Amino acid sequence: MAGETILVLNGPNLNLLGVREPSIYGNDTLAEIEESCLERCAELELKLDFRQSNHEGELVTWIQDARGTAAGIIINAAALSHTSIAILDALKSAELPVIEVHLSNIFKREPFRHSSYVSMAADGVICGLGPQGYLLALDALWRLLHGDDEEP
Ligand code: DQA
Repeated sequence: MAGETILVLNGPNLNLLGVREPSIYGNDTLAEIEESCLERCAELELKLDFRQSNHEGELVTWIQDARGTAAGIIINAAALSHTSIAILDALKSAELPVIEVHLSNIFKREPFRHSSYVSMAADGVICGLGPQGYLLALDALWRLLHGDDEEP
């Protein structure tokens, strides 16, 4: 039986995964990442709400709507991680556990990627592990929601 809903949000250009700079972001498409998240959610008895938008305002609205409907948020805000105070403010007001994910290791890349507004609202940050980061984030959220004593 699926239980809590986890909202997984993906920001600008992540719809192009698979064709976009594969040497940095790998060959998996976003649909393939969603499929592996669905499998992990089935194992963890979580419901998955997986979305992508190229628009900052749409992401902000989805984060606002998560309050009361989702148990936690996983977010790869992509380039907006480095610029968006609006997403930071929305995440803070959602009052939900948040895990930030980046496919690439942002600290190995250009200096402008080294800081993320999202990190200021995140309980944890996973970067550099490719699509596996999303699965680790689901495991981590499950643990944040259920504590250390329970097993999935
Ligand atoms: C990214 C890293 C960001 O710096 C970049 O703008 C992205 C993707 C990642 O998943 O590695 O679009 O968030």
